Amino acid sequence: MSSSSPIGVFDSGIGGLTVVQAIGEALPHERLVYLGDTGRTPYGTKSQDVVRRYSEENAAFLADKGIKLLVVACNTASAVALPGLRAQLDVPVIGVIEPGAEAAVAATANGKVGIVGTESTIRSGAYVQALRRLRPQLEIYTRACPLFVPLAEEGWVDNDVARSTVRLYLASLKTSGIDTLVLGCTHYPLLAATIGEEMGAAVALVDSAKATAAAVAADLAERGLLATEPAGPSSFFVTDAPDRFVRVGARFLGAQVDSAVQIER
Ligand code: DGL
Repeated sequence: MSSSSPIGVFDSGIGGLTVVQAIGEALPHERLVYLGDTGRTPYGTKSQDVVRRYSEENAAFLADKGIKLLVVACNTASAVALPGLRAQLDVPVIGVIEPGAEAAVAATANGKVGIVGTESTIRSGAYVQALRRLRPQLEIYTRACPLFVPLAEEGWVDNDVARSTVRLYLASLKTSGIDTLVLGCTHYPLLAATIGEEMGAAVALVDSAKATAAAVAADLAERGLLATEPAGPSSFFVTDAPDRFVRVGARFLGAQVDSAVQIER
């Protein structure tokens, strides 16, 4: 393993590209190997056992690529699979939940924090536990917002349907007095403007993707493994036909996904 080894990143599908974008902005020299489990997405409605099994298979594929670090760029997988993945791999494993929780604790002034995520992420209680570990006296409010995922993939992020959905899901959070809201799903940053309008300027939105990129930078710096010069182009693998991933992925990556290779599952 060396500084030019790639960073492995996996997600249930397309959403993890928001994390890839954030890592690319923070660490432009790094080479990433991304696996989107598009054949088995979504994870957010599946049981913990199934998400753990899929995550371990994804990690094994990436470990074979000689990665120096694994990033679990999926909130649902981070919520339930991290301990197993850390036992499975020889390299460090960074999920999106701990960095997101740290950013939320840094952002809140009144100690009232909201979390939105998939059904599975919210049900797991992983964000609540991570926040309480950092600051036990926080007041925490949660809401699963499953329809945000298909809205983001459809590109319906600021039309009437998006605004109504955001308003209905966030009604209880809006009256709770929170000053910080964690976007605890890879897809939700695409809806950030609409969510921000609904919650108002006094509520800070925390994007776990950006916080995770900072955690990746810190880990590589600490181990002396930051790429000091461009380490080569990133590569993308998927578990279903790549055309939809390439087409829809551009919105999540903020750039064209040049190509993706389908692997057998
Ligand atoms: N990537 C998932 C997450 O961040 C959202 C999509 C899914 O449900 O698989 O939780």
